[in-house]
Amino acid sequence: MRAVVVSDIHANSEALRAVFSRVRRKKFDCIACLGDFVGYGAEPNQVLDAMRTFKGTKYYIRGNHDRFVAALEEGNGFNPAAKSAAEWTREHLSAPNRRFLEKLPLGPIERGGFVLCHGSPGDEDEYVFNEFHAGRIFETFEAPIILYGHTHLPVIFSIDRKGKVRGSAVRGDAIVRLDPARRYLINPGSVGQPRDRNPRSSFAIVDSDRRTAQFLRVPYNIAKTQTAILKAGLPVVLANRLKWGT
Ligand SMILES: [Fe+2]
Repeated sequence: MRAVVVSDIHANSEALRAVFSRVRRKKFDCIACLGDFVGYGAEPNQVLDAMRTFKGTKYYIRGNHDRFVAALEEGNGFNPAAKSAAEWTREHLSAPNRRFLEKLPLGPIERGGFVLCHGSPGDEDEYVFNEFHAGRIFETFEAPIILYGHTHLPVIFSIDRKGKVRGSAVRGDAIVRLDPARRYLINPGSVGQPRDRNPRSSFAIVDSDRRTAQFLRVPYNIAKTQTAILKAGLPVVLANRLKWGT
């Protein structure tokens, strides 16, 4: 199974468009989205229309922002900018897109030989940043490849048969060979709001047959996305941070 893996699009349609045009000529069997389709950005309907109507096999789960926008909770734990953007999104969603968000499944789900989750397999709100935390997840979940998002940081953790955990942040474009003797936790980074000080949109292509994880970064029209955010009256910080990738 060869999967295009995207996460944390955050209503940034310019970034998503750049990702789609990068994969257009590439071969893949499915697209997996690890949640946070919306929130922060000003183009939720454009993003959801594109993701809903994407031709091909789709494996999608919800993120914490999708959950909040779909009004399944009160937004505890959201900072003020995130909360006001989510409330704005709620008011601007089309009916089909609202229904789509409401029906998005909670991870983890197992599809195509991968486990998909937003934060971690045990908790969609949990941030996985370090090897210690990754090790605890490897102890609890046996899957050979777990795909996760939420941190907006491209990274790969693995564990060998003796229980030794290794993790490394992925800088820029990279192809990582997946050792059959190891299990993996793979985060493709964020399409719409990267936070590793690289403003380019981040995603991955993970191939379970060839055993490779390819990380890719693509430039997109950041100024256009920022203008849309400011025009919508969303918090200025949400526009500014895109330029720095923070
Ligand atoms: Fe996110």
